Amino acid sequence: MCGITGYIGQRSAWEMILGGLKRLEYRGYDSAGVVTVADGSLQVARSVGHIRALEEATPGGLPGHVGIGHTRWATHGGVSEANCHPHRDSKNRIALVHNGIVDNVEALRRELLAEGVKFRSETDTEVLSELVGRGVARGQSLLDAVLGALNRMEGTAGIVVVDQERPDRLVAARIGSPVVLGIGEGEMWVASDPLALRQYTERMVVLEDGEIAELTARGFKTVDLDNRDREKRVEKILHQAEAAELGSYAHYMLKEINEQPDALDRSMRGRLDAAMGSSHLGGLQSHRARLFEVQRVVFFGCGTSLYSAEVGAYLMSSYARVPAQAQDAAELAVQNPIVDSRTLYVAISQSGETADTLAALREIKLKGGLVAGVTNVVGSSLARETDFGTYVHAGPEISVCSTKAFTAQVLATELLALQFARMRDLSATDGRTWVKALEQLPAQVRFMLEHAPACKAIAQRFGGSKFTMFVGRGANVPVAQEGALKLKEIAYVPAEGLSGAAMKHGPLALIEPGLPVWALVPPDETRERMLGNLRELKARGAHITAVAAGDDEEVRGLVDEVLALPPHHPAVSPILTVIPLQLYAYYSALKLGYDIDKPRNLAKSVTVM
Ligand code: M6R
Repeated sequence: MCGITGYIGQRSAWEMILGGLKRLEYRGYDSAGVVTVADGSLQVARSVGHIRALEEATPGGLPGHVGIGHTRWATHGGVSEANCHPHRDSKNRIALVHNGIVDNVEALRRELLAEGVKFRSETDTEVLSELVGRGVARGQSLLDAVLGALNRMEGTAGIVVVDQERPDRLVAARIGSPVVLGIGEGEMWVASDPLALRQYTERMVVLEDGEIAELTARGFKTVDLDNRDREKRVEKILHQAEAAELGSYAHYMLKEINEQPDALDRSMRGRLDAAMGSSHLGGLQSHRARLFEVQRVVFFGCGTSLYSAEVGAYLMSSYARVPAQAQDAAELAVQNPIVDSRTLYVAISQSGETADTLAALREIKLKGGLVAGVTNVVGSSLARETDFGTYVHAGPEISVCSTKAFTAQVLATELLALQFARMRDLSATDGRTWVKALEQLPAQVRFMLEHAPACKAIAQRFGGSKFTMFVGRGANVPVAQEGALKLKEIAYVPAEGLSGAAMKHGPLALIEPGLPVWALVPPDETRERMLGNLRELKARGAHITAVAAGDDEEVRGLVDEVLALPPHHPAVSPILTVIPLQLYAYYSALKLGYDIDKPRNLAKSVTVM
């Protein structure tokens, strides 16, 4: 869950690497480091804290035209300078950056300790550096030494390595953790994400799992773990660099919340069929015949993606009448799932690199299951490993706290459910009504964004509360959970999101006078029961903010304030009700003075299990 990068060419390696690391900082940000080669020796800068701290600690940067860099999210070993990457071998000849985990670290460390190696850190990565260092010391080329080390390792490793005695090359490898190469004229880059490359080049090569690349300023060659040549295709980097800029916003999260109308518009462009009252999800067409056979749909993902999966399962079963469920990918991966040929599995992941989601998808594929993917990142592992799928086109999501990916993922499940519903019993008239509702979403989300000042005022008053509850029913249960997750994640406020039905089985005991509760009460089949929940909450003195129809006087009479929903189709309500919850979390964190885009202990992409 770290960011790795490297550069070789004629320009300042320090500047190239720092530019890349700044784009990768969302992957981890507890410490950072760079190693370049100049005057025949490794030049090292490492520091605890954000990239900014590394820059401040290294005035003038490092010399040299080749180097590697890393931004860390700690797994093995605490956050300290000693544990910062890059790690060197004990002879200080090679330096290596690593994203992943060495599972057999203890066995390798014991062996090296017995041979007299003195380790300087608590990391698993240092074991890899030592193995590579020993290879080159024995006279192997850097590529052979890396192959030797990787063949002894069990686990995951996106790595880049530099050798002070061969500064004309870098070696990079992808074993379970993503690595892409950027191609320039007389220069090359390497990174764990195309986002780090787009500012420098439009051309990239994506390494597949088990591939190792040797880069020089003039080009690259790729081999597999048995040192057999691999042909690679040069691809265009699609996301616009400008889309990853902060612009006039104070935080990426606020920018991304506000980008939702455009993101939704982009996500549905060309995918709605107004005449047929249906949708086209490009990737699905080629499997159309098989989709008629599907008798069950299992959506899976983690965190926010799991909540979008839950909305998807609700839509699929309510509207397409196909039995559907959502599962936490982490649980699915380890429970030896019963996979059958009539089930469609749908993996959802913004990054497409979440280790638990990839593990679940691999387990299902191993057992012969059909897996569709929903992801935001073009060329991600999920996009490559699923049988077919769809990109949500939300644009780069930088803030660790996911917002626009949620609504875009829910939209993808709407399109999928609509297509399934039309392939089964939904009438053309009802399909057209749903299509119209989807077309109106960007404007309706804009309407919901106008609640920002109200959300800010509520956050001013309640943002630091000791506990906050979010309640919904039906498709809005996962939205309530998503609201609670946002608040926990960036404002560090204990919060629970739950079904109104579950309240009196325990959680109601948490309510005391003045405690904030957000209630999702759209005008659909859940409203009557939600009214009962509002009465229970009011009787116990909760301060209730309802997200409900603007003209719902009954709701208004039971709560402290209403954030109005525009008239909408019930199937799309999760995309509307979530907006004030995102804004509330944002303004709560702002009031409390936290680092909104980089919450403590977290990273954007959880590439370890
Ligand atoms: O990239 P993914 O969608 O697979 O990430 C899954 C979760 O780690 C992610 O949604 C996480 O819960 C967010 N930080 C929540 O805002």
